[in-house]
Amino acid sequence: MAQVELKNLSKKYGKVTAVQNMDLIIPHNQFLVLVGPSGCGKSTTLRMIAGLEEITGGEIFINDERVNDKDPKDRNVSMVFQNYALYPHMSVEENLGFSLKIAKVKSEEIEKRVNEAVSILGLEDLRSRKPSQLSGGQRQRVAMGRAIVRRPDAFLFDEPLSNLDAKLRTQMRTEIKKLHQKLKTTIIYVTHDQVEAMTLADRIIIMKDGYIEQIGSPIEVFSKPTNVFVATFIGSPPMNIFSAEIINSNNNIKIKLDDNLYFDCTEDQKNKLQNKKNIFLGIRAEDIMPVENNINTSFWSFKRNVDIVEPLGTETQLFITINDKEIISRMYNPYAVNVGDELTFQVDPSKVHFFDKETEKAII
Ligand SMILES: Nc1ncnc2c1ncn2[C@@H]1O[C@H](COP(=O)(O)OP(=O)(O)OP(=O)(O)O)[C@@H](O)[C@H]1O
Ligand SMILES: [Mg+2]
Repeated sequence: MAQVELKNLSKKYGKVTAVQNMDLIIPHNQFLVLVGPSGCGKSTTLRMIAGLEEITGGEIFINDERVNDKDPKDRNVSMVFQNYALYPHMSVEENLGFSLKIAKVKSEEIEKRVNEAVSILGLEDLRSRKPSQLSGGQRQRVAMGRAIVRRPDAFLFDEPLSNLDAKLRTQMRTEIKKLHQKLKTTIIYVTHDQVEAMTLADRIIIMKDGYIEQIGSPIEVFSKPTNVFVATFIGSPPMNIFSAEIINSNNNIKIKLDDNLYFDCTEDQKNKLQNKKNIFLGIRAEDIMPVENNINTSFWSFKRNVDIVEPLGTETQLFITINDKEIISRMYNPYAVNVGDELTFQVDPSKVHFFDKETEKAII
């Protein structure tokens, strides 16, 4: 059981500020994912919680106890790293029990906990193998087992799957999710892969340059991104973003995408946009739909020639151009489209996101 709390947490390496004034409460049993581009401060945050990195400012509490001055081994958190560094000369079993042996735990207790970890992770048949006789995924499972035997209050994962190939990564992702459901402990998980973040998290933190850009459930950060950065970081392909102009004349507000594309606003959008001039407009690929017939007159509608066709099996991505900008549309209907075909595209205006051009913050 652990609640982890960060109060005004900061880390500077000389002039580089890696983490800036982070405030956060991670409740017991939450699966929290820290996601963001390389260098945004994810590992530093995790290492400060584990006690592996001295903090420059702020406080860390685990279960209401201030742990700033506690040694890593006394914080009762376990970290699983990207390079799992198993002891090559030891069997799986010995690798699992080693940290308990060092901590002078009685051998019956070690055996009990190792058995427990072996059964949770399905390592029964591999107990006596050496790491060199294991696959990447199996090694990663042993690394997780080493964390499990310590019965920590919280698990800290730093990109544990990034050394695995794509297929194995997807499998292990599911295993980690199951593991969380079994163990019912707090997990703080670092990744730069937004798909991993979306699929695993109860709550996601999107970081950039040491700051928290947004905190929310996967659905919240996907459907209500607070700024352009989050909008383009979460979701694949990234949200289409393009410049638009708000034309306000005779009490009628229109959105101009280019010289030939003007769209009416909904009543709700009029209120949001009436004092704006230049904005960024965001539309997800799946919200730009090619239609054959059944044109919905309340949707935005325009014709475009298709530049590129990318069939992906269950869906096809169509690339079109609006105002010199490449836009991706996602089509689920399996009708054949060829490069150069002229199609009618529709956009449900209620699915469109608006961002301020200067601040890049969502206009709400
Ligand atoms: N020991 C160090 N000395 C100086 N600067 C450091 C040190 N460790 C990290 N940094 C800097 O702090 C910032 C945050 O680093 P951090 O390792 O937390 O990023 P990250 O989000 O984990 O990135 P990645 O996805 O590449 O692992 C980066 O600018 C990095 O260069
Ligand atoms: Mg890192």
